[in-house]
Amino acid sequence: MTADRSMRWGVVGPGGIADRFATAMTMVDDGEIVAVSSRSLDRADAFADRHGVARRYSSRDDLLADPDVDAVYVATPHAQHQADTLAALAAGKHVLCEKAFALDAEQATRMVEAARAADLFLMEALWSRFLPAYVRLRELLDDGAVGEPLLVEADFGFRMPIDPAHRLFDLGQGGGALLDLGIYPVQLCAFVLGLPERVVADGVIGGTGVDEVVAGVLHHAGDRLGVVKASIRVPMACTARISGSDGWIDLPAFMHCPSSITVHGPKGVQEIDTSFEGDGLRFEIEEVHRRVAAGDTESPVMSLDESVALMRVLDDIGASVRSGGRPGDVVESRP
Ligand SMILES: NC(=O)c1ccc[n+]([C@@H]2O[C@H](COP(=O)([O-])OP(=O)(O)OC[C@H]3O[C@@H](n4cnc5c(N)ncnc54)[C@H](OP(=O)(O)O)[C@@H]3O)[C@@H](O)[C@H]2O)c1
Repeated sequence: MTADRSMRWGVVGPGGIADRFATAMTMVDDGEIVAVSSRSLDRADAFADRHGVARRYSSRDDLLADPDVDAVYVATPHAQHQADTLAALAAGKHVLCEKAFALDAEQATRMVEAARAADLFLMEALWSRFLPAYVRLRELLDDGAVGEPLLVEADFGFRMPIDPAHRLFDLGQGGGALLDLGIYPVQLCAFVLGLPERVVADGVIGGTGVDEVVAGVLHHAGDRLGVVKASIRVPMACTARISGSDGWIDLPAFMHCPSSITVHGPKGVQEIDTSFEGDGLRFEIEEVHRRVAAGDTESPVMSLDESVALMRVLDDIGASVRSGGRPGDVVESRP
């Protein structure tokens, strides 16, 4: 992509989130989806017909061989992210890869090293970071609206019927609450408090072997805490509260994409409208376009080092859950 031309996207994995990505793209000026790949030509055709996409491929590698694709949106289940991202980078494409970035920090590190070696753009699609609510939240924190942030409490969960074939209940596809939903409360803690020094966690491993309910405490520098929960079997409030020395900020449901923020600060209660038009994935797409046009290979808002570090936190929480509450220590493994 150059400054005077639109970004031409290829979508790998035409599932639920890819549909939203395509809808979001209609609200972005300088990008278009030119190709889609599926393991089935019928499904690629159906997606292409729904979204007016010209080229349809029945294999990822055929899409990657298309010289008219500048960037690839990896929208496959977590277990495919490493392979799809490495293949796309090897084919010379920029990559936006869905969350959770990978299955573990080792995979994430490999992906980041490949992007850096190829001098190509790579970013985890943590769309929350680019939404008006999170942009405003950053301003509020920087302005000291609630003093020094001391505690972040956040959860994200719902009750799904157990379906061993669904990606969320299938270990082979990276199933479980932690990777799919836990990433949102954890990234909020990192956004507000920085990376944690250590974690303790416990949870419930279900009959299909995935973590169905997870609760963790993140200990950050300065004795500040993050308290996170995620679930695919227990409905949760899906809200967040950031408590500071001079007040607190509430993020209503859904905490990863709230349409308002309420500040309880020294000056009283302020409700801030953070709603937006259309699908919120458009803000992360715009970030990719901005960065690539500027010649950048990553975004400071969702940096590659942070994506690896967040995977380490998830690794530690997962290990702690699987060992029945053994504490995890992420200090030594920080990038
Ligand atoms: N940002 C967000 O708000 C958000 C929301 C939902 C999901 N996500 C993320 O997006 C990713 C996909 O989630 P989704 O809900 O869109 O899943 P999904 O509906 O199951 O779609 C995933 C697609 O990946 C393709 N695929 C390729 N290899 C696969 C494999 N080995 N096993 C299964 N499918 C494979 C499938 O398409 P073919 O079978 O046609 O190849 C499938 O349609 C996940 O990493 C998830 O965390 C993000």
